[in-house]
Amino acid sequence: CCACDLQGLWRNELGSNMTISAMNTAGTFSGSYHTAVAATNKQTLVSPLQGVQQHPGAKRHPMFSFTVQWQFSDSTTAFVGQCFVDHRGKETLETTWLLREEVLSHKDTWKATRVGTSTFIRIK
Ligand code: BTN
Repeated sequence: CCACDLQGLWRNELGSNMTISAMNTAGTFSGSYHTAVAATNKQTLVSPLQGVQQHPGAKRHPMFSFTVQWQFSDSTTAFVGQCFVDHRGKETLETTWLLREEVLSHKDTWKATRVGTSTFIRIK
C-alpha cells in the first residue's frame, strides 16, 4: 500500500518537533520547527521551514529537502532526506543536515558548518 506522506507532526532523536503542512502540486511545502537543542545558550523559538518534495506524488519513498530560518540565531540549517514507509504503514524521515553559522571573516569558514544525520518519526 501507500506512499509516504510528509505532511504532519514529526519528532527526531533529539526531541525536536516539526510540523509540515500540505504540499502544493509543485511539491513545495512550509512548516515550523521547534528544536530541542541549540548551538548557543539562547532561548529557542519556533522557526519557519520551507521545503520541496522531489517528483511530488510519483514515488512511494519520496525525497525532499527543506531549510529552517532560525528565529533566535544567525544560523541556517538545510536538511535533505527521504520518507520511508514500512509494510505496517509506519513512516520515518531519514535526513542529513548542514548547520551553517555566521562567521565574521572568511578565514573562519573552516569552522562554520556542522553536519549530522537525523531520523524523524510521525507523532500525528
Ligand atoms: C542554532 O543553534 O543556531 C539553531 C538551532 C540548530 C538546531 C540544530 S539543526 C540540526 C539539529 N537537529 C535538531 O533538531 N536541532 C539541531
